[in-house]
Amino acid sequence: MHLSFASVTLTGLSCLSVLASAIPTNFSFANNPTGEGFPKPNAQQLVAIEAQAHGSLPNGPSPSSVKNNTVTSLQLIAFNEIFETAFFTSLIQNITNNVTGYAVSNSTLRYASLEALVAIRAQEELHTLFANNSLTALGAKPVQTCEFMFPVATLPDAIALASKFTDIVLGTLPAIQLLLAMSNDSALIPGIGSVIGQEGEQNGAYRLFQNKIPSALPFLTAGTREFAFSALNQNFIVPGSCAVDYIDLPVFKPLTVVTNAIAARNQTLSFEFPMSNGSTTFNASSYSLAYVNQQNIPVIEPLQNITANQTSKTMKFNAAFPYNGTTFGNGLTYALVVNGSTTGLTSAADVAAITVYGPGLIEIN
Ligand SMILES: *[C@@H]1O[C@H](CO)[C@@H](O)[C@H](O)[C@H]1NC(C)=O
Ligand SMILES: *[C@@H]1O[C@H](CO)[C@@H](O)[C@H](O)[C@H]1NC(C)=O
Ligand SMILES: *[C@@H]1O[C@H](CO)[C@@H](O)[C@H](O)[C@H]1NC(C)=O
Ligand SMILES: *[C@@H]1O[C@H](CO)[C@@H](O)[C@H](O)[C@H]1NC(C)=O
Ligand SMILES: *[C@@H]1O[C@H](CO)[C@@H](O)[C@H](O)[C@H]1NC(C)=O
Ligand SMILES: *[C@@H]1O[C@H](CO)[C@@H](O)[C@H](O)[C@H]1NC(C)=O
Ligand SMILES: *[C@@H]1O[C@H](CO)[C@@H](O)[C@H](O)[C@H]1NC(C)=O
Ligand SMILES: *[C@@H]1O[C@H](CO)[C@@H](O)[C@H](O)[C@H]1NC(C)=O
Ligand SMILES: *[C@@H]1O[C@H](CO)[C@@H](O)[C@H](O)[C@H]1NC(C)=O
Ligand SMILES: *[C@@H]1O[C@H](CO)[C@@H](O)[C@H](O)[C@H]1NC(C)=O
Ligand SMILES: *[C@@H]1O[C@H](CO)[C@@H](O)[C@H](O)[C@H]1NC(C)=O
Ligand SMILES: *[C@@H]1O[C@H](CO)[C@@H](O)[C@H](O)[C@H]1NC(C)=O
Repeated sequence: MHLSFASVTLTGLSCLSVLASAIPTNFSFANNPTGEGFPKPNAQQLVAIEAQAHGSLPNGPSPSSVKNNTVTSLQLIAFNEIFETAFFTSLIQNITNNVTGYAVSNSTLRYASLEALVAIRAQEELHTLFANNSLTALGAKPVQTCEFMFPVATLPDAIALASKFTDIVLGTLPAIQLLLAMSNDSALIPGIGSVIGQEGEQNGAYRLFQNKIPSALPFLTAGTREFAFSALNQNFIVPGSCAVDYIDLPVFKPLTVVTNAIAARNQTLSFEFPMSNGSTTFNASSYSLAYVNQQNIPVIEPLQNITANQTSKTMKFNAAFPYNGTTFGNGLTYALVVNGSTTGLTSAADVAAITVYGPGLIEIN
């Protein structure tokens, strides 16, 4: 089944053709009406979204009071889901309008792709509305819409990106479940669990589309709210286009993985982060690189051969990537530059507590 789906996909993509002109790069809902009134659908439009999503918003009562830490989790979920909604809206428009890099000339495949993506977008819209309605019911600040940018210009790159940000979500929601349990707001845990499975179904399809096996790993890579919020802000939010500081989470400075198309082997990788205050020196003695993959103890490596680049105002360094067949298997690995003692770090949350630059996102091909 996998092989036949994959070969259909490859056949379709090999007939990509150039037909229509580009649409603006920075996405806002104001400039891209979806026809169902999102992000402010009325009751009738909500029914249309639910029909596209093949299902409904939960119709039980919203929690009437939660801890502030839980408000932060709901705000992050809504912030992420509204981004995903924007992404799939743009992707659907690009395929529909035969934008360069997105035209699918096989009509069977074109129809099937659009049918799946319209359902996924509507499902993400309902995820957003659920989190946002909960925030409103709690009297907390609801989600703010931003302008978004998507650093891709072809359908295969867009699907690879969707797989990457879905991997991030799949690690973040379990971290949120733990925080909900610790805050005694456990009533929200099953609903979050239902979304984890839903996003996993999506990612299986994105992986098949890329000719990968559908399930990446036995235990998916753990994340944290801080990694997710930083990755969203660093990669997808047009700076200054919306308030983000109402969400009580840090945005780390970026860490770029310079090495491209990372193969599944033991190797040295190159990374880059912004220079601090124009300083061309960096005292690395208290810094390390931490890798987070699967549910394993973080792997710590020293920063080696640090060099300054005055033109790009960045510091570049190398670090070992001790792939051994199972430690860094398929799927997502986070890379984080941390400052402080790394003895006794056992979890992604421990790493987040001392992260300065990150997350660098590594996906083994
Ligand atoms: C979030 O809720 C607020 C307050 O009800 C509303 O104004 C806003 O449109 C909602 N946004 C989304 C994306 O649901
Ligand atoms: C929770 O957040 C509200 C609104 O920001 C604030 O007034 C309140 O002091 C916070 N409560 C705690 C326990 O921090
Ligand atoms: C849609 O196409 C535009 C123009 O090429 C591109 O900037 C944007 O990133 C694309 N959107 C997605 C989600 O791939
Ligand atoms: C896009 O191309 C398909 C054929 O692949 C065609 O049926 C459709 O009308 C085109 N749409 C636009 C908006 O050009
Ligand atoms: C179009 O895709 C379908 C399956 O989705 C496949 O059966 C068919 O052979 C493809 N057509 C062409 C011309 O490649
Ligand atoms: C959660 O409940 C337990 C047991 O009642 C209590 O000890 C703990 O302080 C509560 N935690 C919070 C964050 O309220
Ligand atoms: C999109 O936003 C980026 C970041 O603010 C900006 O540099 C760029 O000029 C914007 N592009 C358009 C077309 O407005
Ligand atoms: C960079 O400059 C800011 C403001 O002058 C200062 O607070 C910060 O400590 C400096 N950072 C480093 C690493 O020197
Ligand atoms: C660091 O630089 C030295 C000298 O150029 C080189 O021999 C060594 O392989 C480099 N090590 C790493 C990990 O990049
Ligand atoms: C320094 O950065 C500039 C701009 O990004 C780049 O063109 C150049 O190749 C870099 N130099 C080195 C030695 O990496
Ligand atoms: C990776 O290769 C380096 C250099 O050859 C070696 O020192 C290291 O033990 C290897 N690591 C693993 C996990 O195989
Ligand atoms: C791979 O490395 C990890 C972490 O260092 C270790 O726990 C594991 O046993 C290694 N696996 C193999 C097959 O060497």
